Amino acid sequence: MKIVFFGPPGAGKGTQAAKLSEALEIPTISTGLIIRQAMAAGTEVGKIAEDYIKSGALLPDDVVAALVAERLKEDDCQKGYILDGFPRTLVQAEIMDKTGIVVDFVLDIEVPDEAIVKRMSGRRVCNKCGAAFHTEFNPPQAENVCDICGEALSIRADDAPEVVLNRLSVYHEQTEPLKAYYEKQGKLIVIDGEGTVEEIFSRVQAACDGAGE
Ligand code: AP5
Ligand code: MG
Repeated sequence: MKIVFFGPPGAGKGTQAAKLSEALEIPTISTGLIIRQAMAAGTEVGKIAEDYIKSGALLPDDVVAALVAERLKEDDCQKGYILDGFPRTLVQAEIMDKTGIVVDFVLDIEVPDEAIVKRMSGRRVCNKCGAAFHTEFNPPQAENVCDICGEALSIRADDAPEVVLNRLSVYHEQTEPLKAYYEKQGKLIVIDGEGTVEEIFSRVQAACDGAGE
């Protein structure tokens, strides 16, 4: 199965993608995580990314599309994959179509803007495996330690409230128009993103079961 997780920053894409990856035994390709790892490693892409991430702007389409194309060549993607955070513009979706990256469906996790800032302010992330926790809503078993890989957790530089507000407006302007694009293709499945992580995961699984029939 080839699935896109779509939705505003903080919708829970990463949280849900991690659970679905485990259930379906396919990898999640998170462009945000790839970019943060490139920044931490100080690669050329990482250096280009810094100013964009700091302000909450999107990286250039060709840069991100090249990262995804490279990752999808790896062996673990041949059975299927989950894309988290890509595509994020119409140009990126068109690049996918042109280069033959065809997904089965797009899961759009809908969360209102008011709930997002609260989620982001308590987020703690693992930069090694990409897991996300929340100090109140989804705390790790040991404080500041990743449940999955044991790495120390950190706060994302782009989770400062003013950057979150900019990421939200970038989402509404540049990413949200993609909903109509996938609706037209009959691939958009809207999921209510409010509730507990488990409740939303049940909706995600039901959507996948329904789409696979
Ligand atoms: P990216 O890393 O993709 O960030 P994002 O889309 O802004 O989404 P987030 O990761 O912030 O949120 P999420 O939906 O994954 O939520 P999460 O599960 O963590 O991108 C970062 C940046 O990289 C971009 O701004 C851009 O600069 C660049 N970039 C990436 N892709 C790009 C592309 N394609 N093109 C150009 N640039 C690109 O959950 C959020 C919090 O809520 C967590 O604390 C979690 O524990 C908590 N939570 C989750 N579910 C629930 C729940 N049900 N109830 C309460 N809390 C919950
Ligand atoms: Mg994420």
